[in-house]
Amino acid sequence: MPERIWIIGASDGIGAALARSWAAAGAHLILSARSTDKLNDLAQSLGPDHHVVPIDVADRHSVDQATLEIAQLGQVDRIVHLAALYDPGKVTEVSADAAAQIVTVNLTGSFHIAQIAPKVLRPGGQLALCGSVAGYVGLPQGQIYSATKAGVINLAQSLRSEMAGKIDVRLINPGFVDTQLTQKNTFDMPAMITPEAAARAIIKGLNQRRFEIHFPRRFTYFLKLLSALPYWASLPIMRRLTT
Ligand SMILES: NC(=O)c1ccc[n+]([C@@H]2O[C@H](COP(=O)([O-])OP(=O)(O)OC[C@H]3O[C@@H](n4cnc5c(N)ncnc54)[C@H](OP(=O)(O)O)[C@@H]3O)[C@@H](O)[C@H]2O)c1
Repeated sequence: MPERIWIIGASDGIGAALARSWAAAGAHLILSARSTDKLNDLAQSLGPDHHVVPIDVADRHSVDQATLEIAQLGQVDRIVHLAALYDPGKVTEVSADAAAQIVTVNLTGSFHIAQIAPKVLRPGGQLALCGSVAGYVGLPQGQIYSATKAGVINLAQSLRSEMAGKIDVRLINPGFVDTQLTQKNTFDMPAMITPEAAARAIIKGLNQRRFEIHFPRRFTYFLKLLSALPYWASLPIMRRLTT
C-alpha cells in the first residue's frame, strides 16, 4: 500500500520540495495551504494520485472543514505541518497586526493541527510539527517568529509525551533553507541549503526513530551549543553573529 501523507504548507518552499520527493517515491499526497492555484499546479505536475485540500491553519472553521474532507478520503500515515509566516524587522517597526497573525498561524495553527490529528491519522501514525533553530535562541529582527518557533518546540515536546503510544509526534528544526521565507533576510545566512536538501533530511529523519530532526548538523549543533551556554557567554556571540 502506498503511504498517504498530508503536507500542510505544500504550496511553496520546503513543503513543495517534500511533495516532489515523496510523490517520486510513490506516496499518495494530500496537499494543503491557502493558495489553491499553486497547489493545483503542483498536484498536476506530480500525477493523478494526489489531492488538494485548501486550508488556512489560522482559521479553525477552515481546519475543521479540511479535516472532514480528509477523513472521508481514508486514514493518513503522516501529517507534516510546515505552514508558517515570517516578517522580520525591528520590534518597534513590526506592525502589531502582522505580529498577531504570525502567532496565530505559527503557534495556534500548530495547536489546531495537533487537535485534529487523531481524526485523520491511522493509529500509530506520525505528526510532524515544524519549529526552527530560531526557536533555540531568540534571533534579533525576527523576535515574534523566533518566539512562536520556541513555542512550537515546547508544544511538540508536550505532545510527544501526551500522545505517546497513539501518535508518533516529531519535531523538525531546520537551519537556513533557501525559500521565499529566507529571501526576506538582509543578513548573511550561514550553512544555507536548498529546499530539496531539506526535504531529503526530513524524509530520512521521519523514517528513523529520533524525536527531533535538525539540519544541517554543522549549523544546528553550533546553535544547540550556544543555547546551552550561560547568557553572559551566549548573548554577546549572538549579537556579533547577527550584526
Ligand atoms: N526557510 C528556512 O530557512 C526555515 C528555517 C527554519 C524553519 N523553517 C520553517 O519551515 C517551514 C516551511 O518554511 P518555508 O521556508 O518552506 O516557507 P515558505 O516557502 O514561505 O512556505 C510556507 C508555506 O506555508 C503556507 N502557509 C502560510 N500561511 C498559511 C496558513 N495560514 N494556512 C495554511 N498554509 C499557510 C504557505 O502557503 P500559502 O501562502 O499558499 O498559504 C506555504 O506553502 C515553516 O514552518 C518555517 O518556519 C524554515
